[in-house]
Amino acid sequence: MTSATIPSPDLAVPETTLDRTLSEICNTAAKPLAEARALPAKAFTDQHYFNWESEHILKRQWLSIAHVSQLANKGDYVNLELLGERISVVNSGENTIRVLSRVCAHRGMDVMAPEFEHQQAGNCKQYRCPYHHWVYGLDGKLKGAPLMKDHPEVTEQTLGLHEFNSAVWQGLVFVNLSGDAQPINEQFSGLDDYLDRWQMAGLTMVADLGWDCPFNWKVLVENFMEPYHHVGAHHTTFQPMMPAQGCWTDEENTHFQICHLPFTEQIQQKVIDGEPQYLSFKPMPGLLPSDFLEWTVYLAAPATLLFVAADRIYWYRLQPVAAGEMQIRTTLLIHPDSLAAPEYEKTLSDEVELMRKFHLEDMEMCGAVQSGLRSETYTPGPLNQLEQPIWLFQRYLARQIEAERSGK
Ligand code: FES
Ligand SMILES: [Fe+2]
Repeated sequence: MTSATIPSPDLAVPETTLDRTLSEICNTAAKPLAEARALPAKAFTDQHYFNWESEHILKRQWLSIAHVSQLANKGDYVNLELLGERISVVNSGENTIRVLSRVCAHRGMDVMAPEFEHQQAGNCKQYRCPYHHWVYGLDGKLKGAPLMKDHPEVTEQTLGLHEFNSAVWQGLVFVNLSGDAQPINEQFSGLDDYLDRWQMAGLTMVADLGWDCPFNWKVLVENFMEPYHHVGAHHTTFQPMMPAQGCWTDEENTHFQICHLPFTEQIQQKVIDGEPQYLSFKPMPGLLPSDFLEWTVYLAAPATLLFVAADRIYWYRLQPVAAGEMQIRTTLLIHPDSLAAPEYEKTLSDEVELMRKFHLEDMEMCGAVQSGLRSETYTPGPLNQLEQPIWLFQRYLARQIEAERSGK
């Protein structure tokens, strides 16, 4: 009789592709700035990594989803899909903005389904599910369910639309899908010193352009934050006024980044001599003289992007969809007094045209970058010093990865 050989178990846990990608991101981020390189392509192209990032970074942090001017009156709402959740941001009255799930507590229907031609923004008195007409108040509580009056479980106390953790900071509504992020004021308090002068909560949104983007959300964040690409992508728009070589980045902060894009010396001299430059709208009251000498880009990590000038703020709403796909809304916020200026309509249409042009410059680059990242021949290349924001962003990602791995 022969005895069967029992194979000895392999005790070493094989490293998965995901583990390798996480390690490679951390190793890349650990290099000093002088040796910095782009992230491994899988950080932008691998769906398993995207899924990990969604669960462990994007859902766990604060993401901006609306500006308060879009929600000025009771019942005003903005709907969006974010990381697989169908969401309604609503002014529910008494100065309260809520972020509600649109998933009906009955059988899961979207109570404002775009498939049923619901608008992405508007005003409503309540939410009524199209399927069986369950009705919810603006606070998400169940108000009624046809033919179920006597059902003991169908009550306002027991059922409603899920409310997500939300906060308003600098006039923007943020959501934290996991519900356990640090308070937003603590995370971004260092930015208040810069942004308070713009009084963003009092600004008006005058343009809101939507883009379906065939690239990873980090391709856009990196593109937005680094000024090196002025020499290429924006050589006719930004490079002549804010040349790449004059741009500089603030020292590292845990949850945000600031990159300064100063005007050329000639333009700055004109401003100092009392000739305003690049002011199409009314500048914000209360700015410092130095605020007129540059534009500034901000990242409130992981994905809130602000492009700030004396007379405007461009706020980007990012909605990562998959490894190689995202949606963005690029918006223009200005001081409401600007609307009364003579020629305002013409000024606005010129500005929206310009905004479309420079956004397109970026979007086309980002789409082509994503294609390159999918190539088997691509090896991450060295970064220019002007790409310091990319290196800082790598370090942010690495901190999140390491915190997750150590169970913090
Ligand atoms: S699924 Fe909404 S009322 Fe039935
Ligand atoms: Fe750009």
